[in-house]
This record gives sequence, structure tokens and C-alpha cells, in this order.
Amino acid sequence: MVYTTPAHQYPLGGRLPIPRRERLLAWARRNGAMVVEDDYDAEFRYDVAPLPALYGLDPGRVILLGTLSKTLSPDLGIGWLVAEPGLVDRVAEVRARLTDRTSGPVQAATALSLERGDLDRHLRRMRREYARRRGLLVECLGERLTGDTAGLHVLLPLPAHAVAAVVDAAAERGVLVVGTGHASQAEPRVHGLIIGYGSATMSQLRHACSVLADVLDRHVGADGTGGARGSGHQARRGGPIPALTTSGQRGVLASPDRC
Ligand SMILES: Cc1ncc(COP(=O)(O)O)c(C=O)c1O
Repeated sequence: MVYTTPAHQYPLGGRLPIPRRERLLAWARRNGAMVVEDDYDAEFRYDVAPLPALYGLDPGRVILLGTLSKTLSPDLGIGWLVAEPGLVDRVAEVRARLTDRTSGPVQAATALSLERGDLDRHLRRMRREYARRRGLLVECLGERLTGDTAGLHVLLPLPAHAVAAVVDAAAERGVLVVGTGHASQAEPRVHGLIIGYGSATMSQLRHACSVLADVLDRHVGADGTGGARGSGHQARRGGPIPALTTSGQRGVLASPDRC
């Protein structure tokens, strides 16, 4: 079995191109393997064409997982699985025996908002909102960012030795970001900052961008090669901006009112 997040990978932010999707499915067919396609983040993409879901390319070989955690809230605990009927029945049977069920009224309210199109409207609004936030980050840190064409986080590659210093200096000034090592059990292949923008307001992001630009200038240098200029931290202004960490997304509400 292969587990993959082809719409947007965390933390590097890659999207699996069509030829690699086809190669993965051909490999799965040759080896009799099932592919679990975790389609989280698929709802948000920026300035790039949609890619076909693996499930659509080979429904008999793929189990598709979706979630409302990014579009509404992880607190709902609601997701879905699309697979061939026999497997769906077996999963439903196991699921019914698990105790961590989403409450009935929450399920009913979510079903109603799906039926009435409220969720679609919310999604359309949030796509515009996240595009604005992502646009701001690209504008401020653009040259350096990667993995920014989908989802709710971007990656800022840095020299390995600079990551911890940048994370600490940003945190001292109230901007919480994490390094790629945070998402890797071994030494990460790519070093840099994971910057989430799912629950930061535009003004928080503007402030965070200017702090990050300044911290990067001091610790990494404009050329990104790591020429540190010393760490003269300024006094911290305002409270922390936890939204910039995408780890442990519990409590992050994808709604402009709460962002
Ligand atoms: C890779 C991945 N898949 C799925 C999810 C959503 O999981 P859940 O629906 O359990 O909240 C997340 C949340 O951040 C994620 O990072």
C-alpha cells in the first residue's frame, strides 16, 4: 500500500505532476498495491491548473480520503472516503465500532450546509481569502519561496545552519514558524522554514513578513547563502502569531471572522 498526498505535500509543498501520477498507478498495478490518496489541501491552488485525482485515473486501485479540516475546521472531525463499495462497507463497519464519533447534530448541520450549497459558497470565499494571504507572502518573500502553488503553507528554503537561528529570532519577535526538521524523523533533505497562513489575518501576515524579511537579512543575507550579520533582536511587538505554524492545526478555523 502506498500513502500519498499528491495535491500538495507537507512540508515541501510539491504537487505530483500527471506523468508521475501515471507512473505511480502503473507501479501499483504491476505490484498489486493499493494507493491511498489523501486529498487534503486539494481545494486550494493558486495560478496553476487543476490536476486529476489519482482516484479518477484508476478508481479500482485508489482509496480517496477527503477532509473538512482545511476548508471548515479540524474541530469538526469530519472527512470522507471514496473507494470501491466492498471496501467502503468494511470501513463503515469498523468506523461504527470506534468511539471518537463526530456528534450527530454536528454531522446533521454539516450535511445541511452541503445540501444548501453553504459549504460551496464558503469555499469560494475562502479561496479568494487564502489567495490574498498567499499573494502577500509571495510579494514579500517571493524570490525565496517554494511549494506555494497550493494549500495553506509555503516553504522558505534556507541553508541548514541558519534554520534554528531564524526560527528563534522570529519567535523572539512574536512570529512562530518551524523548520523542515520539525516534519522529518531523519535529517531533512531540504532545509528551510514552513510558513502557514491558514489562520493569520492580513495585518498579522504583513507584520510577520516584515519581521521575517528583517530576520532573514540578519541571519542569512540577501543572497540566501548564510552570511550572518549578527542577531541584534528588536523588542517583541504585540502577541505571538501562532497561525504561522501549520503543525498541530487543531483550533485553526478557516473562516475570515476567526482568522
Ligand atoms: C497530510 C494531512 N492529511 C490530512 C489532514 C487532515 O486530517 P484530519 O481530517 O484528520 O483533520 C492533515 C491536516 O493537517 C494533513 O496534514
